[in-house]
Amino acid sequence: MYIDFFQRRGHARIRGASLIPENDSTVLFTTAGMHPLVPFLMGETHPAGRRLVDFQKCIRTGDIECVGDPSHLTFFEMLGNWSLGDYFKREAITWSYEFLTHRSWLGFDQSKLSVTVFAGDDEVPPDEEAAATWEELGIPRERIHFLGREDNWWGPAGATGPCGPDTEMFIDTGRPACSGQCRPGCGCGRYFEVWNDVFLQYCRTREGRYIPLEQRCVDTGMGVERTVAMMNGASSVYDIPVYRPLLDFLLKEAGVASAPDAGFLRSLRIVADHVRTSAHILGDDSGVPPSNLDQGYILRRLLRLSIRHGRKMGIERQFLEDAARVVMDTESGVHPELSRNRAFVLEEIRREEAQFAKTLQSGIREFERLLPNLMKNPARIIPGRVAFTLYDTFGFPVEFTAELAAENGMTVDTAGYQAAFEKHRELSRAGMDRKFGGGLADHSDMVTRLHTATHLLHKALRTVLGDHVEQRGSNITAERLRFDFSHPGGMTDEQVAEVERLVNEAITRDLPVGCEEMSVDEASARGAIGLFTDRYGERVKVYSIGDFSVEICGGPHVERTGMLGRFRIQSEKSSSSGIRRIRAVLE
Ligand code: ALA
Repeated sequence: MYIDFFQRRGHARIRGASLIPENDSTVLFTTAGMHPLVPFLMGETHPAGRRLVDFQKCIRTGDIECVGDPSHLTFFEMLGNWSLGDYFKREAITWSYEFLTHRSWLGFDQSKLSVTVFAGDDEVPPDEEAAATWEELGIPRERIHFLGREDNWWGPAGATGPCGPDTEMFIDTGRPACSGQCRPGCGCGRYFEVWNDVFLQYCRTREGRYIPLEQRCVDTGMGVERTVAMMNGASSVYDIPVYRPLLDFLLKEAGVASAPDAGFLRSLRIVADHVRTSAHILGDDSGVPPSNLDQGYILRRLLRLSIRHGRKMGIERQFLEDAARVVMDTESGVHPELSRNRAFVLEEIRREEAQFAKTLQSGIREFERLLPNLMKNPARIIPGRVAFTLYDTFGFPVEFTAELAAENGMTVDTAGYQAAFEKHRELSRAGMDRKFGGGLADHSDMVTRLHTATHLLHKALRTVLGDHVEQRGSNITAERLRFDFSHPGGMTDEQVAEVERLVNEAITRDLPVGCEEMSVDEASARGAIGLFTDRYGERVKVYSIGDFSVEICGGPHVERTGMLGRFRIQSEKSSSSGIRRIRAVLE
């Protein structure tokens, strides 16, 4: 209905993007419908026009601790409509209102709708225009709440670029108020946020000033699961049709007809959420397997948490593969990529689950080795530090240690465990901040080398196949590079061999890698290849590799090509129509 509604209002339907962002290393997953559209919100011309609509698979792991409550999910779907310098506040709000309340569309009772708008601060005035529009549509002032930046501002935190106030729409569930101050955004669960209209009307400068944007844009996002829950009068996002087969499967595995208590219900929801998210991470056309790095690491964590919570529910057997099968059966109609990648999803989940079972076994063995010593403690308490080492070194979760302890009449010093854990987390968080400060997500040596190899590959492909070859995607892990490029047909064995030879020749020549900053125009005058999307600044970094290649890129790169080792193409195959995909390694 959403797509239809906006198509009738002049919007072109576009395809949602991959969950794994291409050519963007600042985030691990696509977190909002606007994410793949940033270059167009910044002024680049979109081929489909100035009014766009789509639905987008999203993953957000920032609130993972809240998963299991009535409203949080790590994977969700977002409906969005955009104006690229076309309509603005009034039209966007009016359409949101119409779609939410009109009988031909969602038909929510107007009296259940509350909204928030930006209250203004020292730098930006209050969004009176948004408030006035809501009032004209019939929302009384007492249901229009003025809130600050934390609630009603969208933009890259602290960074430069497009940003602006937003207005959020909430459905009143009718549950009791949490306090006299209960209001949309208070977090108690009475008001369910379903939609957010963002008005990108400012650009934050390097000096931190907000100047009006020449091209004002609208970016909206409606949460599918939340909206469907509200339409069904459900009390949580899990009580909607898309989760039903999975919840039924999990309950059956646990041997119960319904959740016997709140702890069980939370575990049930966590498993449902994490399995769904995992199936989509693997089932995306750019899907990644479990690993200790980036998206693969998140996936590994989600799968292991699922096993743990499954155990809490009383599920002992390896059940994740079958659970993922249920997700794919339910959702392949909407997400055909889940069918295309079904075998990969199932195989990776099976492997990961079996491996974790081994981890648990070695954790149990280590515990048993330590046991005689631990038993000497008259208080029968296992020190937190020991529990943490079991977790950190053997991957053995503290809940399992506690279980084994209980079987032997002991307890775990959980406060001590927590302290050791926090200390560790602070250390790794310091690492994470660096990681997301910009540039490539992982700067390990191998990734840097593969990154330089990608430039050599790109250039070699153009030399062998022709200048129509353009980068369409690049993804690097510590193990391999993957490069998508435009080319009408498959490559011959000779072409593959020739590309490999050219890259290895450039490596053997030990060419120096240089970097300069310049404007996009200068870069283009130098014949630089690469992505000419100018995102958050007009100057770009240009890397040149000897006389071999000149390419726009954020880096980092090795200093000389001689450090790369031997380059080998593992596979060359079709990625999608007109796009080829190469996987290659450095040996
Ligand atoms: N980008 C906005 C959001 O995700 C619409 O809430």
